[in-house]
Amino acid sequence: MVVPASPSCFQIMLLLYLTFLLHIASHHHIQPAAAASKVEYLPGFDGPLPFHLETGYVGLGDTNDDLQVFYYFIKSENDPVNDPLMLWLTGGPGCSSFSALAFQIGPIKFKIEEFNGSLPNLILRSQSWTKVSSIIFADLPFGTGFSYANNVTAHRSHWKLIHHTHQFIRKWLMNHPEFISNKFYMGADSYSGIPAPGIVQEISNGNDQGLQPWINLQGYILGNPVTTGKESNDKIPYAHGMGLISDELYLSLQRNCKGEYIDINSKNEVCLRDMQYFHECLLGTNEWYVLDSDCKLDFLMGDQGTHKRILTQKLEGPLSSYLTVPTTVTCQVVYCYFLGTQWANDDSVRKALHVREGIGKWKRCYTTDFDFDIATSFEFHVNLSAKGYRSLIFSGDHDLVVPFSSTQAWIRALNYSILDDWRPWLLNAQVAGYTRTYSNQMTFATVKGAGHTAAEYKPDEGLVMFSRWLSNVPL
Ligand SMILES: *[C@@H]1O[C@H](CO)[C@@H](O)[C@H](O)[C@H]1NC(C)=O
Ligand SMILES: *[C@@H]1O[C@H](CO)[C@@H](O)[C@H](O)[C@H]1NC(C)=O
Ligand SMILES: *[C@@H]1O[C@H](CO)[C@@H](O)[C@H](O)[C@H]1NC(C)=O
Ligand SMILES: *[C@@H]1O[C@H](CO)[C@@H](O)[C@H](O)[C@H]1NC(C)=O
Repeated sequence: MVVPASPSCFQIMLLLYLTFLLHIASHHHIQPAAAASKVEYLPGFDGPLPFHLETGYVGLGDTNDDLQVFYYFIKSENDPVNDPLMLWLTGGPGCSSFSALAFQIGPIKFKIEEFNGSLPNLILRSQSWTKVSSIIFADLPFGTGFSYANNVTAHRSHWKLIHHTHQFIRKWLMNHPEFISNKFYMGADSYSGIPAPGIVQEISNGNDQGLQPWINLQGYILGNPVTTGKESNDKIPYAHGMGLISDELYLSLQRNCKGEYIDINSKNEVCLRDMQYFHECLLGTNEWYVLDSDCKLDFLMGDQGTHKRILTQKLEGPLSSYLTVPTTVTCQVVYCYFLGTQWANDDSVRKALHVREGIGKWKRCYTTDFDFDIATSFEFHVNLSAKGYRSLIFSGDHDLVVPFSSTQAWIRALNYSILDDWRPWLLNAQVAGYTRTYSNQMTFATVKGAGHTAAEYKPDEGLVMFSRWLSNVPL
């Protein structure tokens, strides 16, 4: 989990996932099929897909191909020959990249309608980032989504994730030589702010060492990225600035805790008391999107068994209000996670996606058994800055989990001079957020009014920001 805090709906969801995790099926009977397949139809979507989707597996095992990475590849809907290629990882660590595809930046999304037991429907998302770039959504680390390994536990750590992703992208390009010369970007959000800059560094080092194929690495893009692991310390000033706690409590917290709100000395009773008050003030606030209230759909996040039971019971009587479409933004987000889980576990869907037989239940996030062997990615940014790669670091500015102020603080600590100072960036003559650029080719941008996964909340702004940055024009 990203940051310990009072349980929000999302965190309860995560806990329930942890509680009900099934073992990934033993894979002796998995039948390797074709490594890559074009997908022309998806169950739940009406008609042929109006974009190029390919799914497949890339095997990383040296000897007995027991490390199989599942990916979704969507060609740019504009000019795939010349548009950049991006590899995207979602947070977690261990959330399926299908989350990014279907809930954030991909060309399809779930139709928000009442679930009645039938396969959920998919519709187009007009603000897909595939309008301007080709994107590979990879299910990494192992254990995530439809990827598999004989021993998942043995392959889950930051460094392993970095090595695997690096191996994956070179092998993938080997199988797709037509994309080798395209400009390449790494993209990630949330918890993947820790491994993603490390992946960029490994790709860069690999290029320097002459590894083949050479990757036309240009830079990276990160959304609300965990970076220093100290992000929680910024929650306090952020909550104060948002009017969630009083001036008096804020002053008292500063005085008693001295800026350290994570590792509090157990003898520091005044600080602990203030922190308790702080958490009480935040009860009922959704930390992933502070404008919204906590969502009470957590039952949806349980295992399928629980849900099926509820559904069966309810379908015998009148449809439960539990299953009616929620009205708040956050609950709709959670409801889509639920629809996505129903969809991804349907046999017809797995067949259409060419998922191998014998893969266990699809979970949006598989977060257990992860070795957190990198505490901060700050040094990767230092190294990458020195090498001159471009970067876009953006923050949904209504996220309390990785507040924009914590992101600005580590960017400031890189000591690069400001080229184009803080100013609003616009969409349709309205302020869409604020931006600033630095001499290390880094652009920082906020997305005004967005939560933790900015494009999920502000899709128009997300696409405009991404495409302006990709094409090298000021935001
Ligand atoms: C569920 O609703 C869809 C329309 O949204 C309909 O086509 C389908 O027949 C319904 N299924 C059941 C089991 O009622
Ligand atoms: C899987 O890997 C873990 C961690 O390396 C190890 O402790 C465990 O014994 C392995 N399990 C099997 C069945 O090999
Ligand atoms: C940054 O680069 C230096 C020099 O190449 C290297 O020694 C160091 O390990 C790198 N930092 C990280 C976190 O990999
Ligand atoms: C930035 O400058 C400060 C103060 O001079 C220094 O302590 C720090 O090491 C510098 N950071 C980097 C990444 O060079």
